Amino acid sequence: MKSIYVTTPIYYVNDRPHLGHAYASIHADVLARYSRLAGRDTFFLTGADEHGEKIAKAAVENGEKTQDFVNRNADLFIAAWKELGVEPSQFVRTTLPSHKSYVSKGLQSLYEKGDIYQAEYEGLYSIGQERFVTEKELVNGKLPEDKDPPQLRREVNYFFKMEKYRGWVKDFIESNPGVIQPENYAKEMLALLDEPIGDLSISRPASRLSWGIPLPWDNEHVTYVWFDALLSYVSPLTTLEGGFERYWPSVRHIIGKDILRPHTWFWLAMCKALDLPPYKKLYVSGHLLGSDGRKMSKSLNNGVDPLTAARKYTSDVLRYVLVREVPFGVDGIVSEQVIENRLDKDLANELGNLVSRTLTMIGLYCDFKVPTSQAYGAEEQALMEQSRELQEGIMGWVDDMKIRMAMENIMAFVREMNRYVTARAPWKLAKDSSQRDELNAVLQTLHEGLVVVSTLLGPVMPEKMRALRSALGVAEHSESLNEAWQLDRGVQVINVPFILFAKVNNEG
Ligand code: MSP
Repeated sequence: MKSIYVTTPIYYVNDRPHLGHAYASIHADVLARYSRLAGRDTFFLTGADEHGEKIAKAAVENGEKTQDFVNRNADLFIAAWKELGVEPSQFVRTTLPSHKSYVSKGLQSLYEKGDIYQAEYEGLYSIGQERFVTEKELVNGKLPEDKDPPQLRREVNYFFKMEKYRGWVKDFIESNPGVIQPENYAKEMLALLDEPIGDLSISRPASRLSWGIPLPWDNEHVTYVWFDALLSYVSPLTTLEGGFERYWPSVRHIIGKDILRPHTWFWLAMCKALDLPPYKKLYVSGHLLGSDGRKMSKSLNNGVDPLTAARKYTSDVLRYVLVREVPFGVDGIVSEQVIENRLDKDLANELGNLVSRTLTMIGLYCDFKVPTSQAYGAEEQALMEQSRELQEGIMGWVDDMKIRMAMENIMAFVREMNRYVTARAPWKLAKDSSQRDELNAVLQTLHEGLVVVSTLLGPVMPEKMRALRSALGVAEHSESLNEAWQLDRGVQVINVPFILFAKVNNEG
């Protein structure tokens, strides 16, 4: 069986999850669910990035012991993913002993290989981004995404010889077109890789920051948080019997554009140095913006809280809107208004309406039993054909992280079915007993079309599609993406009014 390993960034647990985190996690979860449905052996990892100065500082500000603070916040992430229908195979935490020992081993091997050396360093450090920054990146003395200006640091650090691997990294990206998607991000990185990138400081003096993994050969220093965090993509697999061989070769990372550099410069160089095969795909998202068009942030208070939105509209609606609204890779606005418009238009008006019309008519004309019919004409054949093309095309879009396009195509099929209902006017056919076979064909086609839709939308809206399938009288879980169109289900549909999506705004 084909394997696939999907990861999200591991999130800094200095606070609770926000919509940007949910955006990455939901995309990864959707990819994992589609992969399972397509029959792939799927492993999906998310987790918590628990070391670093930002966390240590936030714990102090909160008056808590650092470990207690991260435990509490990691639990918030675990609970949030549960509520949002994000179901990882494993939740990694960088404070786990198994992870720490994997990082120590990696460091030790690089040290022994001569890829790590000690030097004095002076530079500007951004605690917000947890990295050294260059003067060129600053606007009015600070990084645009940071609240505070970077601090001047002069200290003894250990360095990883990253520059040594620059040529290899560049060559890897160039000779694997599509490995970084969308392509513009690969171009951006390649342009930067034309210039020296320098070596990477991978330690902090424990006298200043004790929260971290001590270097195995010098416990006066702790490991730099990014060096530690990137290895969390691998460490969980080493705790599974045969996990590394089974999943690592198919790894695909989902990240935001803010962490593109660590995932190309640092991570690819580290992989090469550690003899780890590099990733198969790096899917890079843009940023979610608030209704004011600015990057969502706590200080601007322009964001939608994912759990509040899930409680108000259901987690499935939020999941749908996040994958449907903003094309993966570019920035886009997700506000309550945007959620409500999508809910009303796509889900309530188009899909919800089709479902209630279909169920009502099967109840009214066939006493809730899905009819069988041989009276398939050109229109029925065309819908069947369209549904087959969708089934066949879906993984192509999903594998390119074009889930939005997959949704557009599924919704186009739903619209086509709505047009079909209007054109065939079953309520007219029902008045003429000589047209009974045709009426049956229409109702049977609508029912079968909705079964296909429930399968295709299942990975995005698992709860809603389960409910829909149960209302349609079929098994709650789809077995496969390619389930064949059936002409003789003869099942009973739900016999009480069923509303899949309630509209928020009733006008229009
Ligand atoms: N801990 C690091 C990642 C280490 S991965 C080995 C980190 N964590 S983070 O919590 O700050 O952010 C992680 C990710 O959250 C970002 O890369 C991005 O995927 C997502 N987002 C955070 N804010 C976002 C938006 N406003 N919009 C979309 N996603 C953004 O960086």
